[in-house]
Amino acid sequence: MPRAISISAGAVKLKVRSVNDATARRYIAFEGIDGAGKTLMTRMLSEELRRRGVGFVAVKEPWGRENTRFLYESGPSPLAEAIIFAADRLVLQFTVVRPALEKGLVVVSDRSVYSSLAYQYARGLSEEKILELNSEALYPGTVFLLDITVDEAMRRLNERRLTRFERRDFLEKVRRRYLELAERYGFHVIDASKTPREVLEEVLIRLDGVLP
Ligand code: TYD
Repeated sequence: MPRAISISAGAVKLKVRSVNDATARRYIAFEGIDGAGKTLMTRMLSEELRRRGVGFVAVKEPWGRENTRFLYESGPSPLAEAIIFAADRLVLQFTVVRPALEKGLVVVSDRSVYSSLAYQYARGLSEEKILELNSEALYPGTVFLLDITVDEAMRRLNERRLTRFERRDFLEKVRRRYLELAERYGFHVIDASKTPREVLEEVLIRLDGVLP
């Protein structure tokens, strides 16, 4: 059942619509800088869940095709960007994530509201502003931070065309911020320089008791 919880950022207290803790834990998100392997891990975990017969949906943020294209191609201001990511997230949550959780399914998400708390903050927006824009968002209860150095990320990303989100100094800021968030919100921090199979094993160990 949805209920309201409060989270605080400095002096600001904001109401966040949430679901109960056990339900929120079934909302699993992969976070990390670009190149960390979130997309691959979302796919590998999905395959494992399918193999085990666990009902799930897999989603990714940003969700809407138009929003994604606009964000990549137009380079809006940091505030406009944050608004679009937040709106895109609400559509995804109201149409897919909330209904899936209410049906008892597991949700595996490639990124979440924590991406905004990392990237839009690194872009210069205040934490208060980001929290306010996302005040209706659901927070995943299980978060894996796939952590790699920016050097390793750049090596991986060089194999594809870099987007404006993927500049080295920017990614350094984002990584530092993710590590802070991990401590504050209790993410599972996973060393993502390991092989995909090893990372998945680690994820599955930490999911013991979370999966139905
Ligand atoms: P990403 O998952 O890396 O997309 P792709 O699979 O196409 O590489 O996400 C696209 C970019 O959007 C990524 O660099 C991070 C950025 N982003 C934010 O800045 N804020 C957000 O809230 C989200 C969800 C993503």
